[in-house]
Amino acid sequence: MSLLWTSEALVDAMGGRPIGSLPEGITGISIDSRSLEPGNAFFAIKGEAMDGHDFATAAVKAGAAVLVVAEAKLPSLGRLTAPMIVVQDVLAALEQLGVAARARSGARIIAVTGSAGKTTTKEALRHVLSAVGKVHASAQSFNNHWGVPLTLARMPQDCDYAVFEIGMNHPGEIRPLVKMVGPHIAIVTMIAAAHLGFFKNLDEIATAKAEIFEGIEPGGAAVLNRDDSRWKLLEKMAKGAGVEHIFGFGEHARATFRLTSCELYADHSDIAAKIGKREIAARVGAPGRHMVQNVLAVLGAAQLAGADLDKVVAALADLSAERGRGKRHVLHHPNGPITLIDESYNANPASMAAAMALLNATPVAGEGRRIAVLGDMLELGSHSTKLHAALAELIVGTQTHNVFLGGPEMRVLADVLPAEIETEYRAGADELKPILLSALRPGDVVMVKSSKGIGFSKLVEALLGKFPAEATTIEPT
Ligand SMILES: Nc1ncnc2c1ncn2[C@@H]1O[C@H](COP(=O)(O)OP(=O)(O)OP(=O)(O)O)[C@@H](O)[C@H]1O
Ligand SMILES: [Mg+2]
Repeated sequence: MSLLWTSEALVDAMGGRPIGSLPEGITGISIDSRSLEPGNAFFAIKGEAMDGHDFATAAVKAGAAVLVVAEAKLPSLGRLTAPMIVVQDVLAALEQLGVAARARSGARIIAVTGSAGKTTTKEALRHVLSAVGKVHASAQSFNNHWGVPLTLARMPQDCDYAVFEIGMNHPGEIRPLVKMVGPHIAIVTMIAAAHLGFFKNLDEIATAKAEIFEGIEPGGAAVLNRDDSRWKLLEKMAKGAGVEHIFGFGEHARATFRLTSCELYADHSDIAAKIGKREIAARVGAPGRHMVQNVLAVLGAAQLAGADLDKVVAALADLSAERGRGKRHVLHHPNGPITLIDESYNANPASMAAAMALLNATPVAGEGRRIAVLGDMLELGSHSTKLHAALAELIVGTQTHNVFLGGPEMRVLADVLPAEIETEYRAGADELKPILLSALRPGDVVMVKSSKGIGFSKLVEALLGKFPAEATTIEPT
């Protein structure tokens, strides 16, 4: 296996104190002893609930080649004989290594932020750019103060493209992260009420996302949603930050990456678009209008990154929705199939709208019904009640027959939904499970969506347990 870092480069980048006989180098970086692979360096990061130093022994057992630990914790690791690099602060060391990774890289770097669709866009970029070169991208939603430096530090020296998800819950969080990443291209997917609990309004959210412009490399580009209500504000802030090229994507007539036609189907979309001066026609293998919007940003960024657009367009056909983010399962019921749309990864008002549109665009079979299983949207602060009640309007606008609701915030929606929509409310996922499992009929389409913390992925698992999926595989999140 090729080395990600030599030990010499590791020590150089972090300025640490080596103990024991260091290996020639390391094959990867881990902060979790459960997923560590032999030959990795283990960074003992201190999180909110756990301290990596408590897992140093487990990391050694799992095959860690070297441990990166804090000076202050060294006495508590006395009995460990593994090679170590001792630093003042392990997270700061990881950041330094991330900065070194960026400095040695010749890759085109793309950063993705936004209120929804970051991971979806990042994974779509990973997928299409893999058709034209070697790609490195964030794992899962590793988009915060440890996820971003970890992704940077994991970047192989020889990759052609690297894609970073950058997220935030509070103002000031994106700025230091994007400065480490130094993107050539920064995408803002959209601005919506997510984590609104920490902000007064959407302008404040847009202002916090705009910190991403401050890290764009000289000569670089911002790729912004031309159809978004905060386009103007973002454009102004990008200019203010000195971004040299600002492009819009969307169906707006003045978008540089512009959708010219769009046909939505249950399992894919067919689109035509103008990407700069190029006219393209593409099949997008994952369904939903929101996916099309993300794909416009992907096409624009890919073109700006110098990728061969024909190959990128061709790769869009086998794009697939991720687990928890629109992944479809065809469930086996003795009397006919049931379609399950797994949207259990997260929820805010914008992604609820996207998911309800997805449900509505999926045909039922025979006597089947459209069923929405919705759990609380978290972190909406004082806006929460109003935004949960407002989902009624969204649901009434679709052909949804049954609604199963769970979580304290969803009670208000149960109260305001009109009587013709059959509605069941229960305290949470556990209480909903039996009634949902017994309610399903062949031909139904059921969509499960909630914030992760509400645990509706349990309902997806229960459905897959009772009605094993046909012709589909479950991928890790
Ligand atoms: N462009 C979009 N507009 C609105 N909703 C979207 C868009 N793209 C994806 N979504 C919806 O948002 C959900 C979450 O998508 P994704 O995981 O990509 O978001 P994220 O921004 O990475 O979230 P997180 O902040 O939790 O990391 C998807 O399942 C889908 O329902
Ligand atoms: Mg994400």
